[in-house]
Amino acid sequence: MKILVTGGAGYIGSHTCVELLDAGYEVVVVDNLYNASAKSIDRIKEITGRDLTFYEADILDFDKMDEIFAKEQVDCVIHFAGLKAVGESVAKPLEYYKNNINGTLVLCEVMRKNGCKNIIFSSSATVYGDPAFIPITEECPKGTPTNPYGWTKHMIEQILTDFHTADSEWNVILLRYFNPIGAHKSGLIGEDPKGIPNNLLPYVAQVAIGKLPCLGVFGDDYDTPDGTGVRDYIHVVDLAVGHVKAINKIKENPGVKIYNLGTGNGYSVLDVVKAFSKACGHEVPYEIKPRRPGDISTCYADASLAKKELGWEAQYGIDEMCADSWRWQSMNPNGYDD
Ligand code: NAD
Ligand code: WQD
Repeated sequence: MKILVTGGAGYIGSHTCVELLDAGYEVVVVDNLYNASAKSIDRIKEITGRDLTFYEADILDFDKMDEIFAKEQVDCVIHFAGLKAVGESVAKPLEYYKNNINGTLVLCEVMRKNGCKNIIFSSSATVYGDPAFIPITEECPKGTPTNPYGWTKHMIEQILTDFHTADSEWNVILLRYFNPIGAHKSGLIGEDPKGIPNNLLPYVAQVAIGKLPCLGVFGDDYDTPDGTGVRDYIHVVDLAVGHVKAINKIKENPGVKIYNLGTGNGYSVLDVVKAFSKACGHEVPYEIKPRRPGDISTCYADASLAKKELGWEAQYGIDEMCADSWRWQSMNPNGYDD
């Protein structure tokens, strides 16, 4: 089977390519390198000892995508390509809607034209908004996103569902990720954010290595055991394996399926600081700051549906996530830059 991975040079995409190649799939990556380095493709090959086909192309480019699909005879698409910075999406809604929504529409039009109607989409727990209940099952109603990025996930889920309603040949698996962190055990691939990181883990890692002076903890007055925000952090390799399992599912022509990919465990910001301090061997300095607008108190998954229907369950705990994140950070202090 040949899998086309959009955004395959990025953080989650590169880890998924490793698991796909290890599972024996042929892999074609399309990435415009807007938020990635071609070096990640070399590292995927180094880790797996296998080859893949890489196109530096934009999913908005219909003609180029059509050429790629006509040549490659793809069986299934895993669609990671998109812009993902929550704060930036508030400042640049047009860019976010255009890239994420138009990009998905162009991709799907090319897929339909070339007879490929199997898609696995990177959605997010952000679609639950401030969740109606915890732990969050797939039955939990979608909430109101607080930013354009979240709306793109919300809308793309609906768009792909409507494709199946109109044409039952479409198989759509919506994977709702919780908070992916960590890196491949080899230390060769990992998250490489440009500029000052927005997310907790890359920020902590850059404080730990001395690139940033101190972590700001956004609020210690939430209704949680230690007052700081609680999230379901999931190892990126576990997440990547979830995609391989989703491909097995899509082979059954399942129609539309939705799965939470999380561990089911909630950790606070201070739990993460503690686990990371253990991993890097020294205390990570932090100070309490005001709450970050748009943040919720607590978010963690009930991932039992993925276990039941995909045979997937997260294997790694918070200590391994932090240890692997630290290995990547310390082996590559400037990410993929020399
Ligand atoms: P990433 O930025 O590392 O990967 C996205 C990749 O898509 C990048 O390599 C980028 O260059 C590429 N890309 C963007 N626009 C493109 C376009 N128009 N054409 C071709 N390539 C394009 O991000 P990631 O963390 O690996 O996230 C992957 C997917 O998972 C995204 O859709 C993201 O929204 C989703 N997601 C991420 C998280 C998270 O916390 N990292 C959580 C939930 C969902
Ligand atoms: C985690 C916790 C912060 C940074 C975001 C997106 C979501 C999804 C995953 C894509 C929170 C606290 C953070 C810092 C802190 N992405 N924090 N200091 O907000 O749960 O989710 O990424 O789909 O859509 O919203 O992740 O890593 O930003 O924050 O105290 O410098 O860490 O307040 O409690 P979040 P995060």
